[in-house]
Amino acid sequence: MRTPIIAGNWKMHKTAAESVDFVRELLPHIDSIAGVEKVVCPAFIALTGVSAALAGTQVKVGAQNVHWEEKGAYTSQIAPGMLVGLVEYVIIGHSEVRQYLAETDENVNRKAKALLAHGLKPIIAVGESDAQNSAGLTEQVVSGQVRAALTDIPAESLPQIVIAYEPIWAIGTGKNASPEIAQNTIAGIRAVITELYGADTAQQVRIQYGGSVKPGNMTEYMSQPDIDGALVGGASLAVGDFTQLIQKAAEAKGV
Ligand code: PGA
Repeated sequence: MRTPIIAGNWKMHKTAAESVDFVRELLPHIDSIAGVEKVVCPAFIALTGVSAALAGTQVKVGAQNVHWEEKGAYTSQIAPGMLVGLVEYVIIGHSEVRQYLAETDENVNRKAKALLAHGLKPIIAVGESDAQNSAGLTEQVVSGQVRAALTDIPAESLPQIVIAYEPIWAIGTGKNASPEIAQNTIAGIRAVITELYGADTAQQVRIQYGGSVKPGNMTEYMSQPDIDGALVGGASLAVGDFTQLIQKAAEAKGV
């Protein structure tokens, strides 16, 4: 039985002070909802404050990116070791980073390995573009991204990894993938992991859907057998919406 995981990707929203105020307001609404892993991913500058505000609670913290090197002349970058003690999860391979910051599959793989070496858990985002989707290339693109991201990662690390399937055309557009399409693609991702690592390992890996997830469509996603949670942008920025997403995840998975 996989514990569902709902992660709020705040992107470039909220100052450090706003982030702390937000989690203080959010906490009493979601802290006691059992059976669902709850994660917020603020901007780097807010991680210290948010991590302190959430210490000793059931709400976990994630970062939105990382560099793969230990340290060095990489102006502007954050090393995995700098995140240890502040976060449990780190989103890598997000389509906005792939698109605007030239993220490559090779670097996603480097980042995943670096995170695992530091005991941090990667949330690896994959997903096809609108054009790739229209050309019928979804499965090929997504499976290529998953295989590349997992290169040389041993089976025992797989339970630490979360994969987020986020069709690019569904992110921030309000044009979410239907639950059936999301389930199909996510089952395909699990099939790739089964091929690489065997069924026992693949059954332990949590795979989220992301892209215009809202309280109104959450239950349908979470009712799909292979969808283990959501990576949420816009709807994670409001206390009411994020609370509802977590409640609906708990209800749908019967926890
Ligand atoms: P969205 O973003 O929920 O605003 O579509 C999802 C994401 O980019 O993780």
